[in-house]
Amino acid sequence: MAREQWGSRIGVILAVAGSAVGLGNFLRFPGQAAQNGGGAFLLPYFISLLVLGVPLCWAEWTMGRFGGVRGFNSAPGIYSVIWRNPISKYFGSLAILIPLVIYMYYVVIEAWCLGYAYHYLTGSLMKGEGAEAYQSFFNNFVGTQADGHLLSAGGRQLLLFLAITFILNFVLIYRGVSKGIESFCKVAMPIMVVCALCVLVRVLTLGTPDADKPDQSVLGGLGFMWNPKLEKLKDPQTWLAASGQIFFSMSVGFGIIVNYSSYLRRNDDVVLSGLTSASMNEFFEVCLGGLITLPAAFIFLGLSAGGFGTFGLGFNALPNVFAAMPAGQLFGFLWFFMLFLAAITSSLSMLQPVIAFFEEAFDLKRHASATFLGLLSLFGVGFVIYFSKDMLALDTFDFWVGTTLIFMLAMIQAVLYGWIFGIKRGHVEAHYGAHIRIPWFVQLMLKYVAPIYLLVIFVMFCINNVPSYARTILANPVALGSILFILGIMAFLLILIYIAGKRWEAQGRYLNLNNDESAFPVLPQEDSR
Ligand code: ALA
Repeated sequence: MAREQWGSRIGVILAVAGSAVGLGNFLRFPGQAAQNGGGAFLLPYFISLLVLGVPLCWAEWTMGRFGGVRGFNSAPGIYSVIWRNPISKYFGSLAILIPLVIYMYYVVIEAWCLGYAYHYLTGSLMKGEGAEAYQSFFNNFVGTQADGHLLSAGGRQLLLFLAITFILNFVLIYRGVSKGIESFCKVAMPIMVVCALCVLVRVLTLGTPDADKPDQSVLGGLGFMWNPKLEKLKDPQTWLAASGQIFFSMSVGFGIIVNYSSYLRRNDDVVLSGLTSASMNEFFEVCLGGLITLPAAFIFLGLSAGGFGTFGLGFNALPNVFAAMPAGQLFGFLWFFMLFLAAITSSLSMLQPVIAFFEEAFDLKRHASATFLGLLSLFGVGFVIYFSKDMLALDTFDFWVGTTLIFMLAMIQAVLYGWIFGIKRGHVEAHYGAHIRIPWFVQLMLKYVAPIYLLVIFVMFCINNVPSYARTILANPVALGSILFILGIMAFLLILIYIAGKRWEAQGRYLNLNNDESAFPVLPQEDSR
């Protein structure tokens, strides 16, 4: 099978940035910042970005391209060429499990965005019926009141939007890395910037809409979001939230970047490309996400804007805001359509690592691997939407996989790069075809600081959060079922990896790999790329 490759440098940068820019930037970030010290949150946030986010992002880009030129695109394969030890490939199971399980609930929220965009377009969400009506619209749409709601008449609408979203994801992924993901991201990313800038300008020019409430102004909203609450810096939870946000937002520790960069050629730049996509993500997160969602909510809702939680803010609070703002229908549509595009460029990136594994583990053709993945993920999506009461299945997946396992995979990758691949070798490898240089101290940070920082954060995170979540599991059959579901998929993946490893050995895919650099020549740069 011919090796897939990206079509252009800007294409791969936009694809990685598209993976990073998602619901995390627009919904998760403002909520996390507001709850964890406002402006003060930016200090641990930027420290995490510089100490963990960008270095680990470079490590993933480097390891991915290294494995890719040696014929592997899936994490189990890539890890096994980096560390020639029979157990290394099993660590790759996390890099498949994480994107697969996150996809199972992320695509559901993506469908909510599409549904809301549709309702703004038709005007049905602009009737100005008040906060309770918006809350009840959301509850009915999502089915938070009872399990199985989606099989009732009220749930059919969401099923329709979900079907459209799901099929769109699979059509794009079926078209492949270059024709599907890259082409879509090249169109979607500029549209997202335009939509977000329109909404930003609208929010920043709102002034003081209600003269009786002079505090609820644009400046008041920005102050509500960004005034630093320095005492929060003493709270370990702030530091945990900051690094968790960096990982989720940059798609680091997901197993995605390592897969995307495996489609690069040996002499394609990874250093500048990695930095550029990380910078784009920060622009979307801090400059757009941080200035729109919460400030807008505060201007119209006052202090109660802080009490909505991640999804509540996006889907319950903002409809009140659009109802009260001039031309709210248009801006409501632009906002939710932009969220939908942001989500789809991310969800595509969650499917590709899994498809890549099925293809290279069993030499499946794309239609077979896409069908298999479609059935597997449909099963998970069905689980999430069926157990919709209080969004418990979604929350359980999000906590254990979308937060906890990401920390673990980030730690595994830091050790793999810093201690097994080796920072000297990594430094040389990263700079093939590089347009800028990585300072040497970054490698030292990757080897010594990142694993220790991650370990400390991870232990604190477990102490702070795991007991209460563990109690939820024991007390609630749906939460317990969700955990068993995740474990079941994990066991299934481990079996597949075992079989794949045997096949790869039998096919002789590890022959001539060991440090024979001459087998992987660095070609002259192509200027057009
Ligand atoms: N990085 C993606 C997001 O921010 C998953 O939503």
